[in-house]
Amino acid sequence: APRGTDTTHFSIIDADGNMVSATLSVNLPYGSAFVPPGTGVLLNNEMDDFALVADAPNAYGLIGREANAPAAGKRMLSSMTPTFVRGPDRTLVIGTPGGSRIITMVLLGVLEFIDGADAMGIVSARRIHHQYLPDAISAETGALSTETVHALEAMGHTVDAGRRDWGNMHVAIWNRGTGEVEAASDPRTESGRADVR
Ligand code: DON
Repeated sequence: APRGTDTTHFSIIDADGNMVSATLSVNLPYGSAFVPPGTGVLLNNEMDDFALVADAPNAYGLIGREANAPAAGKRMLSSMTPTFVRGPDRTLVIGTPGGSRIITMVLLGVLEFIDGADAMGIVSARRIHHQYLPDAISAETGALSTETVHALEAMGHTVDAGRRDWGNMHVAIWNRGTGEVEAASDPRTESGRADVR
């Protein structure tokens, strides 16, 4: 498969029931664009996940203040949400890249799981997002019906519908009753892969 350019997520369940949910990021393309001489390691630019200037949006439009201000030894806020959910019969491993939208995407995926969706149903579900500021609901094409958009606007919401797709979700599900394992990679991108062996 072609390589992606974004943050990467792996969802893994092995034959012994060991599980990994791992999201890895250099934040923005090429990270800090700096390789310390002799290391071959591209440094990230996760510093942008701090509120570098109070009330000024970061690359994802997130706004913060003192609580997320940079300081020695402190860790910046992250939206990365590698997740396990243990339901009554099934166990879910889920995660995705996507900056500030990650939290919403994983929540929507977990809700699909609770509603009984299979792995492909979870990664395929249309997505909506709100992050408090900017005060607008964004929605992928087809995520909200025209009636729903109008109803939300009538309630005073700003709706930015018909946005380009986002995310690259990877899901593995173990049905502990039947022993069956299934996996799915987000159909929005060709860089992902899902295998059950
Ligand atoms: O930790 C965070 O929330 C961000 N650094 C994640 C960046 C990301 O997902 C970019 N991917 N598309």
